[in-house]
Amino acid sequence: MKRVTLDTLRDCKARGAAFSCLTAYDATLARCADTAGIDVLLVGDSLGMVLQGHASTLPVTLEDIRYHTTCVARGKQRSLLMVDLPFMSNADIGQLLRDAGELMRAGAELIKIEGEAWMADGIRELTRRGVPVCAHLGLTPQSVHQLGGFKVQGKAADAAQRIVDDAQRLVEAGAAVILLECVPRAVGKAVRDAVAAPVIGIGAGPDVDGQILVMHDTLGLNSGYVPRFVQNFLPGQESIESAFRAYDEAVKSRRFPAEEHCF
Ligand code: KIV
Ligand code: NA
Repeated sequence: MKRVTLDTLRDCKARGAAFSCLTAYDATLARCADTAGIDVLLVGDSLGMVLQGHASTLPVTLEDIRYHTTCVARGKQRSLLMVDLPFMSNADIGQLLRDAGELMRAGAELIKIEGEAWMADGIRELTRRGVPVCAHLGLTPQSVHQLGGFKVQGKAADAAQRIVDDAQRLVEAGAAVILLECVPRAVGKAVRDAVAAPVIGIGAGPDVDGQILVMHDTLGLNSGYVPRFVQNFLPGQESIESAFRAYDEAVKSRRFPAEEHCF
């Protein structure tokens, strides 16, 4: 078994091969996803919504994320472990470095941060210290109250260009990976073409390097509202692991996302 590293993701981008990512919060389901071939597991602050039942990710604490990171780290073997920094971990550089350090000690291998071009300094300081960073752009759920809801971002030409520019700035600052959430398909492609770093999409169309979904969404577990970019992979499968395998295969064969999942 060869472990997934940043080099694996870079190699996928270079070969034009898609890689698969899923959120994970506990050891058992992390093991299922890892065994199914999922390349990257994310301990997302979406745990505030799918595990804790909150209406947003804002109440999630560093300790919540640290705890779930230790759980997932024990369950996985091959997959790369990406972990979210919670709301306000970017209050200042000192806090950012300490919080990221704590998550790295808990087992994180890649730290994901929401934020635009202004996060460049923080990303540079983390990268200098050996902490690889994924910069999350587009719909950034920690800003839900500022954005006025969970809405598609980058629809107007100037907003689309700003996302491309921010991605370039953050990759120049050291970001190893970009994650794009809820943007028009053309913006996903533009960012993918503009940066050398691998680009992961969720609701960003098929023309990016990797795809991610919230694990519960791939199993049809939701509270009623199902976003357009989601697919339930459980129907017709005999187990959760085979549903994850179906998702992995759909991503790698570029059958997912399809036209109906795009903005
Ligand atoms: O917290 C999360 O699950 C995420 C993904 C939706 C990308 O940030
Ligand atoms: Na998140």
